[in-house]
Formats: sequence, C-alpha cells, structure tokens
Amino acid sequence: MFVCKRLASSPWKRAVSTNIGRSLSTAPKELSREDSKTLDQVIRVDQAGELGANQIYRGQNFVLQFTDPKVAPTIQHMWEQEKHHLRTFDNYILENRVRPTLLRPFWDVAGFALGAGTALLGTKAAMACTEAVETVIGGHYNDQLRDTVHLNDAAPELQKLRDDLAEFRDDELEHLNTAVDDWNAKEAPAHGLLSNAIQVGCNTAIWLCKRF
Ligand SMILES: [Fe+2]
Ligand SMILES: [Fe+2]
Repeated sequence: MFVCKRLASSPWKRAVSTNIGRSLSTAPKELSREDSKTLDQVIRVDQAGELGANQIYRGQNFVLQFTDPKVAPTIQHMWEQEKHHLRTFDNYILENRVRPTLLRPFWDVAGFALGAGTALLGTKAAMACTEAVETVIGGHYNDQLRDTVHLNDAAPELQKLRDDLAEFRDDELEHLNTAVDDWNAKEAPAHGLLSNAIQVGCNTAIWLCKRF
C-alpha cells in the first residue's frame, strides 16, 4: 500500500495508515498522490488568501477609521471573521506540515496597499474592493468544496476541513452582500474598471499561491 511520504504526518494520512490492517471491505480509501497534492494546495492557497484578506481589512481600517468613522464597526466585524479564518488555516499548515506560500512578504504589502488605496478613494471604493475580492473568494471556496467532495470517505478528518471551507465561504458571501447592499459598492467611481482589475489580481494571486 503506497503512502505518500510527504503527508505521512498529516492527520488524514495517519488515519489512512493506521487502518491498513483492517479488512479491505472496511478500510478507508487511500489518498492518491494527486489528492495529497490537492489538499496541500487547498491549505497553502487558503492561508495565503486569508492573510491577504486580513491585510486588506487592516489597510481599509487604517484609513476609514479617520475618513469615515461610521463604517469602522462594519470593517472591524468583517476583519474579526478574517482573523478567525487565518488562525484556522495557520493551524492546518502546522498540523499537516504544509509548506506556506513563499510569497507571504509580497501579499503582506499588496493586501495592505489594496485596502488602504481603495479606502483613500472613498468608502464605496473600499466596498467595491470587498465586493470584487469576495466574489472571487466565494467562488474559489466553492471550487475547493467541489474538488474535495470525492475525498469525504478517505479520512474522517477531511470533513472538518470541508466544514471550515463551507463556513468561510458563507462568511465571504456575507461580506459581499454587506458591501453591495449596505454600503453601495456598485456606486463606486469607475466600479467596473476597479472590480475587473481586482478580480484579475485575486485570480492571479490564487494561481501563484497554488504553485509558490
Ligand atoms: Fe476569509
Ligand atoms: Fe472575507
């Protein structure tokens, strides 16, 4: 029975390993090398994404607390949820010994600059940024839920990860609705241009973090 060496220490891989002695009819399916790689990518890219999201809200908060204090509680609420997302993926990185993205210093700066820069254009532009980012990230979490659905019976620990993906997807879509419905994100100046540019940036970031 092949056990991918790189994930031998992960909870789901341990679960597979300790069940080797069971009868074939009750043994859980083994994770393939491809599935292990998928799980590595899920954890790496999501930790990086939540890091970027935290930096975006940090940048927005930095500016908006002075320029539009009435929006500050909303920013703080969304930021608190992003902190929870990031802590969760920090733990997955450690528990499963997944290599974090090599691009962290870049996302630190780029996320803060995006958040602060759009906030300097005004509250609606900041919310257009949130709308664009959460549109991409909500879809990204849905893609991951689809890509991992076949792994449900490989190891029970995977269900916790998938539950977290679903919970965070719902949080991101709540942020999207808040930006559009409560803070008129679509009325931001040059909304289409801003939204397209940020969505292209987010998709590029996801592509890079899967690999580096
Ligand atoms: Fe998040
Ligand atoms: Fe979010």
